[in-house]
Amino acid sequence: MFNFSYYTPTEVLFGKGTENETGRMVRKYQGTKVLIHYGSGSVVRSGLLDRIKASLDQEGIGHVELGGVVPNPHLELVYEGIELCRKEKVDFLLAVGGGSVIDSSKAIAYGLADPDRDVWELFEHTRKANGCLPVASVLTIAAAGSEMSNSCVITRASDNNKRAYDDDLSRPKFAIMNPELTVTLPDYQTQSGCVDIMMHTMERYFTQGGNMEITDTIAEGLLRTVMKNARILHADPANYEARAEVMWSSSLAHNGLTGCGNDGGDFSSHMLEHEMGGMFDVTHGAGLAAIWPSWARYVYRDDLDRFVRYARNVMGVTDEGTDEEIALKGIEAMEAFYHSIDMPVNMSELGIHPTPEQVEEMAERCALATGGSQGSAKVLHKEDMLKIYQMAL
Ligand code: NZQ
Ligand code: ZN
Repeated sequence: MFNFSYYTPTEVLFGKGTENETGRMVRKYQGTKVLIHYGSGSVVRSGLLDRIKASLDQEGIGHVELGGVVPNPHLELVYEGIELCRKEKVDFLLAVGGGSVIDSSKAIAYGLADPDRDVWELFEHTRKANGCLPVASVLTIAAAGSEMSNSCVITRASDNNKRAYDDDLSRPKFAIMNPELTVTLPDYQTQSGCVDIMMHTMERYFTQGGNMEITDTIAEGLLRTVMKNARILHADPANYEARAEVMWSSSLAHNGLTGCGNDGGDFSSHMLEHEMGGMFDVTHGAGLAAIWPSWARYVYRDDLDRFVRYARNVMGVTDEGTDEEIALKGIEAMEAFYHSIDMPVNMSELGIHPTPEQVEEMAERCALATGGSQGSAKVLHKEDMLKIYQMAL
């Protein structure tokens, strides 16, 4: 077990009707003028936006709004948000939506805290943030875990560059999670979300060291729970209990809990997927499903004990055989699970067909974004990344 820091300052309000507490929570965290940030309209159509505004009005808290965040959120809208917030003297960022809206809000919040410098420098990793205005969310999709995480992922659309910046400064003040709000999601988004949730824990599970029994047991329980409830929601999207299980799992999977004591995690699948998302604008979770099996087949021999444990404890493999055989059965079972919820297991099933030049470019960019290498289960360099992309075609 390694030493660790576990920092989760986000207050969680969970359950039916909690969105009506938004005004009270903003007041509690001393917001006086709020930017309500949202996406392409689901929160308008559902009436949620009006309820949030009413809740803020009730507390006498001023607000302006900015919609238009797209999945794989754009830097260009972040700049627009910074300008608007400066003009309107906004002091609190309220994201009403999913990971994309929360990340766009975090990026605006970084930009406002240091208005004389280009916020994109953070994503290029040429400097660190000095500050970040308070951010909070009313979550409408269980997936990215951004509602409690220290991550922020932004795409510069002008050159399809998708980059992450991690910093505890952006950890949200509060997260309002009403599972009922996720009922309107298309099944593809629900299932992509479930894949992403699982991946946040799997990235922390497939490591070379520092594993704690308690952390592993929580991780395995979380993975089994999400798989079970993803299947339930595939057949019965209105099932509240399943929505709730998945929603709470989304936060626990990415707030650091399932990484306590380990070596920081692997995160190669995420870095490989970010290039697919940048170049082809794919849904993040579906992109992860399309790359993970190839990553797993490429690295499993280097982390065999973990893959065997995963096959046994998560995927329920009971067969006899060599460790390699058991590990491979675990990977196959994962692919079967993805198929059972209509998720892809390669890029072709995902609907993208990169040319050899594009594959090369993704590997090049991934190596650049990771500073040359990435991974714990197996450390990957550009040549390894290239091979995994080729396997995943
Ligand atoms: O824009 P609207 O109209 O709201 O539609 C959204 C969007 O099209 C829709 N949606 C959300 N809630 C809905 C709904 N539709 C109907 N009913 C609802 N209740 O779902 C679509 C996807 O939304 P998005 O916010 O993009 O989903 P998600 O939460 O999966 O976020 C994905 C983004 O988060 C990043 C990803 O890379 C991607 O850019 N990530 C952020 C992380 C973080 N900050 O910690 C970690 C993750 O690994 C991930 O990289
Ligand atoms: Zn993710």
